[in-house]
Amino acid sequence: MIMHSCSSYLVKAIGLTQALLALLVHGAKSFIHTRPDGFVIDTFRGGDFNDLGAWHGPGEGMPFDGGDGYIRLFPVNADQNYHTQLSSSCFDLRPYNYMYLHIAFAGTDKFSISLNQNNKQCDPGLSPYPETWDTVEASRYAISRYPLQNDIYVPISHFKIDLSRVVSVSFNGFYSDDILTLFRVEVLPDIPDDVSIPEKLPSGTMVLKCKRPNSFAFGIDDGEPYLAQHLMAILKEEGILVTFFVVGRGLESLESNFTQVYREMLSLGHQVALHSYTHPKMEGLRTIEQIDDEIVQSIDVMKHFLGIESRYFRPPYGIVGARTRERLAYFIDDPYIVNWSVDIADWLYANSSMPEMQLKSFEHDVKRGGDLVVMHYLSPSTVSYFRDAIRLARETGKQIMRVDQCMEDPDAPPLHKQTPYKLSLDPESSSEPLEES
Ligand SMILES: *[C@@H]1O[C@H](CO)[C@@H](O)[C@H](O)[C@H]1NC(C)=O
Ligand SMILES: *[C@@H]1O[C@H](CO)[C@@H](O)[C@H](O)[C@H]1NC(C)=O
Ligand SMILES: *[C@@H]1O[C@H](CO)[C@@H](O)[C@H](O)[C@H]1NC(C)=O
Repeated sequence: MIMHSCSSYLVKAIGLTQALLALLVHGAKSFIHTRPDGFVIDTFRGGDFNDLGAWHGPGEGMPFDGGDGYIRLFPVNADQNYHTQLSSSCFDLRPYNYMYLHIAFAGTDKFSISLNQNNKQCDPGLSPYPETWDTVEASRYAISRYPLQNDIYVPISHFKIDLSRVVSVSFNGFYSDDILTLFRVEVLPDIPDDVSIPEKLPSGTMVLKCKRPNSFAFGIDDGEPYLAQHLMAILKEEGILVTFFVVGRGLESLESNFTQVYREMLSLGHQVALHSYTHPKMEGLRTIEQIDDEIVQSIDVMKHFLGIESRYFRPPYGIVGARTRERLAYFIDDPYIVNWSVDIADWLYANSSMPEMQLKSFEHDVKRGGDLVVMHYLSPSTVSYFRDAIRLARETGKQIMRVDQCMEDPDAPPLHKQTPYKLSLDPESSSEPLEES
């Protein structure tokens, strides 16, 4: 009796297990079938287009050559890059967010891999394009497979961007002159069992445009001390507040007078933020220690000479990759890495035979919707066009403010403290606060 009931339970139990198993297998199968497959982005078959029919190619003069099934990059500068697009407008990568970006490559792994997000209009003709991106270090994800081919698997979820508007994958931030050969870029649902994925390191927030509707911000980088007083006079007369990104070594040098200049800028209500210690191409520095020195010393100098801290950082030359971003995020809580969407192009035209191109370049970017400026006060010509630039910005109807204010930073000073434009024409009444419109 006992035996019987036992075995009958056993039979029932086995039957149940089988049924469960069948259900599980069937369920898993139908689950797998409803998951989208991955897809191939690029196998470098030659020409300007990839496997998706979208553009691929180098940026900033990256030297390269290619054959049937590979592309070889010869980076000589940290700002060079190579893009392969998912779309020229917006590609919705959300259905693939649990998948992996797979890259088959040979050669150096001293570079960054970025996933680039298009602007809201999905329009390459507007500024900024791309709007932002997130980036990881290739070396943290790379594994050697065969003598001549390595693999990188990055979870799509490690790229903290709006996945509904992906425009391209890019290879950038090279910190070695070694060659990189790419064979394949694709999105895969699964990875081999022996691959272990590193944790995602925080990489800060990359901004190229203002968040506050109808705002406009001048981010002014380093300059010549002798032009500082002139610039300050313009700022006072125009009644605007701006953000200065200051190089640490300039700030601490007594003969430059920058300490006094930026103390005065602060007292007038301007924002003063970080721009490295010696202005190198930071991502191109060979070691993490060198990158750390630039960050830590610039923070220290700002604290010591101005008594302030900032989480806003503008990368020298706009060059930034995964290592710089990750180290910034290591030392600074939620750093804002401030690139730009309006370039006055003083670096190109200020000392050329066509200095007026600075204003043209400014206007061109403003017309495309740019609202976050990069400029310097290194040359008299740039400073002489500054009033015109302010006028062009005002003609858009946008309000000019500091970068932290245009980012809607809760720690930024309230907007209504800003001296309004109209009243500033009449110096007598400029102390009266104006209501925000
Ligand atoms: C240094 O800067 C301060 C603040 O702007 C200014 O008042 C002073 O005249 C400057 N000194 C020199 C020597 O330029
Ligand atoms: C910063 O923005 C400019 C203008 O959009 C762009 O040319 C440059 O490549 C950006 N910097 C990086 C590191 O991508
Ligand atoms: C233009 O030349 C001046 C003086 O030679 C120099 O100090 C400045 O850095 C140059 N400006 C730019 C934007 O390169």
